[in-house]
Amino acid sequence: MRALVAARQRDPVAPPPSDGHWPLAEPFSVGDVVIPNRVVQAPLAGIGNRVFRAQSRRHGAGLVVSEMVAAHGIRHGNRRTTSMLEVVPGEHPMCIQVFGGAPDVMAEAARAVEEAGADMVDINMGCPVPKIMKTGAGASLLADPDRAVAVIRAMADAVRIPVTVKMRRGLKPGDCDPADLARRFEDAGAAMITIHPRAAAEEYSGSADHQISAEVVRAVEVPVVISGDIADAAGAREALERTGAAGVMIGRAALGNPWVFRAIGEGAADPRPPLYEVIDELVGFSNDIVGVLGADNACHYLRKFHSWYLVGRGVPEDQLQALMEDPTLDVALDRLARLREVAILAA
Ligand SMILES: Cc1cc2nc3c(=O)[nH]c(=O)nc-3n(C[C@H](O)[C@H](O)[C@H](O)COP(=O)(O)O)c2cc1C
Repeated sequence: MRALVAARQRDPVAPPPSDGHWPLAEPFSVGDVVIPNRVVQAPLAGIGNRVFRAQSRRHGAGLVVSEMVAAHGIRHGNRRTTSMLEVVPGEHPMCIQVFGGAPDVMAEAARAVEEAGADMVDINMGCPVPKIMKTGAGASLLADPDRAVAVIRAMADAVRIPVTVKMRRGLKPGDCDPADLARRFEDAGAAMITIHPRAAAEEYSGSADHQISAEVVRAVEVPVVISGDIADAAGAREALERTGAAGVMIGRAALGNPWVFRAIGEGAADPRPPLYEVIDELVGFSNDIVGVLGADNACHYLRKFHSWYLVGRGVPEDQLQALMEDPTLDVALDRLARLREVAILAA
C-alpha cells in the first residue's frame, strides 16, 4: 500500500475544469439523511476509527463510514467490537458498516448501530478475505442473492435509519450481473448502494471498471456511490458525470492526505499543504489516536501513517524508516518535531 500512495504523490494532480459549477459540492439525501456534499470517506478496516472519521469530516468529507464491524462480535458483546460502535459528535453524518451473513444477527447489529447514534448502517458485501467469506459474510453474499436479500430485509425491518449496501461486481469478473443484484437489493430495502466495480478475486488489482458503476446507477432509483481509483478533483468529476452516480467514495487517496476530501468537494487542484503543516496534522492525529487506542497500540497503528503522510515530501529515507521502527510514540513524536523544525527553515 505504501507504493500506491507514493505513486499518487509523485503524479501531478490535474486542475479540475473551472466552469463555475462544481457538481460535487451539492448535497444529496439518503432516506432522511442529508449529506452536505458528494464526497464519502471509504470504510477502511483497521484504519477507519472515530478519530480518522472525525478528521475526514473536518477536512470536508460529506459522509464518513466506519471500518467494518463484526455482527457476531456485537451479539456476543465483545468489548473491542462494541468500542467500534462509539460515535463522536463531530462526525455526523456518519455510517457504521457491519459484516455478517445471518439475517437475525445482522438485524440485531443494525439495532445496536442505531442505538449507538449512527445516521445509517451499511452492509459489507465486498470483503474478499477468505476468513470472512467462509462465514457467509462480505463478498460471499453476492453469490447467494436470496440470503443477501434476507439480510437487507431483516435489517430494514429492524431499524428506522437507512440501511445501505456496499458491494463489489461479483466474486469473479462476469459471474453475476451487479445491476440486477443492485435492483434486488433496492427492492429489499437498501436506501443507497455503493459499488466498487472489481470482483472479490481481483482484490485491489487492475482498475475499477466504472462502466459497471454506470449500469448499476441506471438500474436503481436510490443514490449510488462509486468507489475505486478516484484520487483527485478532476477524476472525481469525470467519474461522477460519466456514471451519473450520486457521489464518489475516497479510500486509498485519503491515506496520509485528508486534504483530498475538501479538494474534491470544492473542485481544487493539488491540495497538499507545506510539509510543516502536514507534520502538524500528523502530530494532532497521533495525539487523538492515543486517546482511542492507548499509547502502545497507537504506536503500532501510526507506523503506516508516517509513511503515508511523509513519502514523496522530501523527508530523508533513513528518517522515514526510523519513524516506522521507533519503539514508542514519544520517540516518534520527538523525531517529527525535529523534522518540522527543518521543514520550517526550508519553507
Ligand atoms: C486497507 C483497506 C481496508 C478496507 N476495508 C474495507 C472495509 O472495512 N469495508 C469495505 O466495504 N471496504 C473496505 N475496503 C475497500 C475500500 O472501501 C474501497 O472500496 C477500495 O479501497 C477502493 O477504493 P479506493 O481506490 O478509493 O481505495 C478497504 C480497502 C483497503 C485498502
